[in-house]
Amino acid sequence: MNNEMGFDKIDPGSVPPVSEPDRQYYFIAKCRLWVRAFAEKRGRVPTACVTTFGCQMNAKDSEKLTGILRKAGYEILDSEKADFVIFNTCTVRDNANQKVYGRLGELNGYKKKNPDMRIALCGCMMQEPAVIEKMKKSYAFVDLIFGTHNIYKFAELLWTMLENENKGMIIDIWQDTDRIVEELPIERKYPFKSGINIMFGCNNFCSYCIVPYVRGRERSRQPEDIIREIKNLVAEGVVEVMLLGQNVNSYGKNLEDPISFAQLLREVEKIEGLQRIRFMTSHPKDLSDELIQVIKESKKICRHLHLPLQSGSTKILERMNRRYTKEQYVALALKIRREIPDIAITTDIIVGFPGETRKDLEETIDVVRRVKFDNAFTFIYSKRTGTPAAAMEDQVPQDQVKEGFDRLLKIVQETAKEQTAKYQGRVMDVLMEEVNESNPAMVTGRLSNNTVVHVPADASVIGKILPVSLKECHGFYYIGELL
Ligand code: 5AD
Ligand code: SF4
Repeated sequence: MNNEMGFDKIDPGSVPPVSEPDRQYYFIAKCRLWVRAFAEKRGRVPTACVTTFGCQMNAKDSEKLTGILRKAGYEILDSEKADFVIFNTCTVRDNANQKVYGRLGELNGYKKKNPDMRIALCGCMMQEPAVIEKMKKSYAFVDLIFGTHNIYKFAELLWTMLENENKGMIIDIWQDTDRIVEELPIERKYPFKSGINIMFGCNNFCSYCIVPYVRGRERSRQPEDIIREIKNLVAEGVVEVMLLGQNVNSYGKNLEDPISFAQLLREVEKIEGLQRIRFMTSHPKDLSDELIQVIKESKKICRHLHLPLQSGSTKILERMNRRYTKEQYVALALKIRREIPDIAITTDIIVGFPGETRKDLEETIDVVRRVKFDNAFTFIYSKRTGTPAAAMEDQVPQDQVKEGFDRLLKIVQETAKEQTAKYQGRVMDVLMEEVNESNPAMVTGRLSNNTVVHVPADASVIGKILPVSLKECHGFYYIGELL
């Protein structure tokens, strides 16, 4: 039943199927009838807007939400003045939560002007019990709340909300799940590149991190499902895929027929027509020699590895439960640089973890200088309720954190600029991605190593991988010229 031909033929008066994804296609059909009735009554199709906070996983989930809304007949808008607005939230740091609260205030203003408006919240932040309490108390105008584990049920929940006719907030949050539902509708943002979930959840429990609590235990998709999805995408014109997981290096370990991430990559590499393979994120403790070998031999795997360091101090790493030392990290990064000389290594660093002294930060800076990261995302430690680090006594005073953060940022920017400048004058392949926002005469793309390149060109080149001469290096990006 899970195709367009089938689901339009569903008798919406019948009993909902028990098995997935058929059940969700049934509810999409029910929503479609509601949308049709709305259109007849109001003389226009209802509009919907999906707003994404946070990481690439959320971006991918939002494509699934959008796909369902589109199939249900909504017109998709980029404006939060739509009839249905859903926030797909993030909670990795507290500022992500604060952003959602702020934006919800705005939505309430729109809702007062548009009685048809419905508001939904989903994603990581909704998995926190304290957030749900706050929503019930102070954000009663929200119509629907669900979490990360039951996002596949969105069509069913949407229908419940539509049928509910504004009679109060619907909340459906699960603690965990072992389910992966395949073959739901999706609307991709880019026709030529796509993220692919290869696994969900995380088992690492880094002591600062809320992800394992809100995304649940590690679950890998079956390799055949992943390969089939990528083959279908390639048939639709996709040339670049990004394999997504919180810790892709432990992919496949818990499958009935275990398979390593490196083996999966070998299979993905064989897919004809696919040109670029990216993946995110790698945990240093699980990065195998086999993986280095596969990247080295590959013609398709991009020359970019995101390898979160978090801290360069072995003492802090231990308290973070990262399960590697400073020296192990440096040795690994240098081995990767030796084996694959043109690879870009990027990282995440947290400043101000409990107990971090100036000396610990110097250790981090030492790693930055030795590894010469091509780019680094630096974060100020954010206390997440329920994580072991939140209960640690020696939280670092804010002024010391700020001072350390600024110092680190400066050094990170120096190495990043130095690394980017290495390619000046070279001719390299660029995947042309989008018309430049501030200068429509330019198209922005990326090198295999993820460096951004702006090229004078028109939109006709978008989606193509073209050789570009890297003319001018401007810090973190290039201005290039099409050959
Ligand atoms: N505080 C600050 N940064 C965090 N990250 C995860 N949890 C926290 C936190 N509590 C950062 C890590 C991770 C990235 C996605 O977010 O660096 O790699
Ligand atoms: Fe969080 Fe650590 Fe898992 Fe990454 S590996 S999601 S930082 S617990």
